[in-house]
Amino acid sequence: MRTIVAGNWKMNTDRASAAALVDALVKESVRFGAQAEVIIAPPFPFLAMAVEKCQGTPIRVAAQNCHQSEKGAHTGEVSAAMLKSIGVQACIVGHSERRHYFGEGDALIGEKVAALLAQGLTPLFCCGEQKEERESGRHFEVVTGQMKGALGPFSNAELERIIIAYEPVWAIGTGLTATKEQAQEMHAHIRALLHTHGASVAERVPILYGGSCNPTNAEDLFAQADVSGGLIGGASLVAEQFLELVRIASNVSSSRQ
Ligand code: PGA
Repeated sequence: MRTIVAGNWKMNTDRASAAALVDALVKESVRFGAQAEVIIAPPFPFLAMAVEKCQGTPIRVAAQNCHQSEKGAHTGEVSAAMLKSIGVQACIVGHSERRHYFGEGDALIGEKVAALLAQGLTPLFCCGEQKEERESGRHFEVVTGQMKGALGPFSNAELERIIIAYEPVWAIGTGLTATKEQAQEMHAHIRALLHTHGASVAERVPILYGGSCNPTNAEDLFAQADVSGGLIGGASLVAEQFLELVRIASNVSSSRQ
């Protein structure tokens, strides 16, 4: 399996800096090689531009959120169908910032996953525990609940089209990273949950790590048996750092062959 590096730009950049960032990645993309898969998730207003600039390159463009309905009276929302119509190929769902600041729960997140799958888009489903949940030893239980709550109803064929990102909330944007052992044990847990749907689901679904992942700690994390790459926030906004992460991912993939 190739190693995936996905950049979540969150609510950052403007038209000029978004264009410059995409251009810098596109310029280097000939060097990505076949071993790393690269996804970027710019804010909504810059998606069409990013899709256009990434055409003919191996970079896939993702949105950061979508609405669960196909269309209708949902002022301010964006549907999976709209994203598809401009060439977006994937979409982040269930990010902890959406769960905590916008009150999104597992059932709603599951509906968004269904909307994306119906359009042929790849859902990038995030899960992860909060600091108190880890400190009280409930992290496995919390992640199990998020997985079952949102992904329970899907068939194996549908599950195989999803990318999972484990992002411990205490590590997001804090500079605190899960140790490689903490990441591996949770990824193995998620892999075991996927295994209950069959060996092929467990083998095919990539599980990314997210939370203060950067060029200093990425090699250790990406090299873990059940870590299939990273979902990168802060470090995805600096072209050199993101490109370095892609290079690290490529090397890790090649050494696994
Ligand atoms: P971070 O964000 O890399 O800035 O911690 C990761 C994310 O929220 O996806």
